[in-house]
Amino acid sequence: MPIGHPCVFFGEISIQILCPFLRQVMFLLLKGSIIELFIKHPNGDVKESAPSSRGWEWSCTSRVCQQVEMEVLSLLMSTPGEPTRKSNMERRHPESGQGLTHREVPRLVGLLLTMALMNALLYLCLDQFFSSLRHSTEDPKPCPHGYFKMGQMKNCSPWLSCKELRAEVRQLKCTGEGAVKRVFLSEWKERKVALSHLTSLKMKDDFLHGLQMLKSLQSKHIVTLLGYCEEDNTLLTEYHPLGSLSNLEEILNLSKYQNVNTWQHRLQLAMDYIGIINYLHRSPLGTLVMCDSNDLPKTLSQYLLTSNFSIVANDLDALPLVNHSSGMFVKCGHRELHGDFVAPEQLWPYGEHRPFHDDLMPSYDEKIDIWKIPDVSNFLLGHIEGSDMVRFHLFDIHKACKSQIPAERPTAQDILDTYQKVFNSLGDTVTSQTREML
Ligand SMILES: Nc1ncnc2c1ncn2[C@@H]1O[C@H](COP(=O)(O)OP(=O)(O)O)[C@@H](O)[C@H]1O
Ligand SMILES: [Mg+2]
Repeated sequence: MPIGHPCVFFGEISIQILCPFLRQVMFLLLKGSIIELFIKHPNGDVKESAPSSRGWEWSCTSRVCQQVEMEVLSLLMSTPGEPTRKSNMERRHPESGQGLTHREVPRLVGLLLTMALMNALLYLCLDQFFSSLRHSTEDPKPCPHGYFKMGQMKNCSPWLSCKELRAEVRQLKCTGEGAVKRVFLSEWKERKVALSHLTSLKMKDDFLHGLQMLKSLQSKHIVTLLGYCEEDNTLLTEYHPLGSLSNLEEILNLSKYQNVNTWQHRLQLAMDYIGIINYLHRSPLGTLVMCDSNDLPKTLSQYLLTSNFSIVANDLDALPLVNHSSGMFVKCGHRELHGDFVAPEQLWPYGEHRPFHDDLMPSYDEKIDIWKIPDVSNFLLGHIEGSDMVRFHLFDIHKACKSQIPAERPTAQDILDTYQKVFNSLGDTVTSQTREML
């Protein structure tokens, strides 16, 4: 949240409640001011204020008072940048024959300017609410290389060594397993952690590659590494009780998570996922391709859902490097791939009559990750109220991701930008619906 933002002191939750509330208060205050202005009008344009079941109710009785009130309210309801509607004042009824006295005009202009200013401030507040939902979760000061911090830890601690892992980590129960690692929920200094063991020595290269990637890519997009021991083939990471992304539907069906089962949270998850792909494609090591993702369940199992409902990449065992300028491309595995989850260039191009041969299989680039984004995003958006509306707005960008020609697919950054625009514009739609309710 930028320092000095007009809503900074409200905090995230209060922005949600206070901005519409503030708007309502403004509405009432200004209405009151207009009427007060006319109370002083010599012709007595307003009825005396009177308490009612809904509070104090005032009303204009003269046409001029009503016209000014309408003008002010239409200004209050208009959006910044919206073409100015034809002024109600200009359309004043000719029969009224009565305008404001020259002493009242500067006061009215001041009132209108104040309202325009307040209106702009309120829009900033609402805008801030939609864009700030997640930003506060970002760690303002990450640890230096070789150190970690998790949960409520105040200081960065160095990665645990073999000695510390053996002495201080207590293994509790198996919590997941893949082709390379068996993962145990464990305890370290009364904190829950995940201890991964290599499953088979045949997979040692993948294990070491994954460890190297974890070490090099530590950031908000990647699970926090707490330590490792190459000698014992173990590594320690932060434990995420919600587990992998495959559990998403199950979790969101629980009553305690109903408040996050909204299109906004789901779209934000999709943006997290694309943010990770973008980070890998523009990583400090170069352009990395998320190869361990030949079908949707496999892809989902490589990411973890954090307790504050964001996504981190966890399994980095198959993350080869692409270098366009030196002509270095990749192949995800040595076996023939099938189906339409993988990109078309990952399929055997020479037809059924010619048997698959890895040496003849052409290599490809990071655009295979882009092809998969619409499918992962569709899973994340789910089937709840509003998710089809979001899909409708993402239709064009998803279509571009599915271009048969890899070079024509957008970059992860392009997709992220489009998602952000859709998120903002749908947020504005909700805002304008709120406005209509006021
Ligand atoms: N830090 C963690 N917190 C919670 N669950 C985890 C964690 N790390 C792994 N898991 C679980 O273990 C599964 C396998 O982990 P993964 O690193 O993908 O192993 P592999 O490299 O063998 O595929 C994950 O899909 C997830 O369900
Ligand atoms: Mg895995």
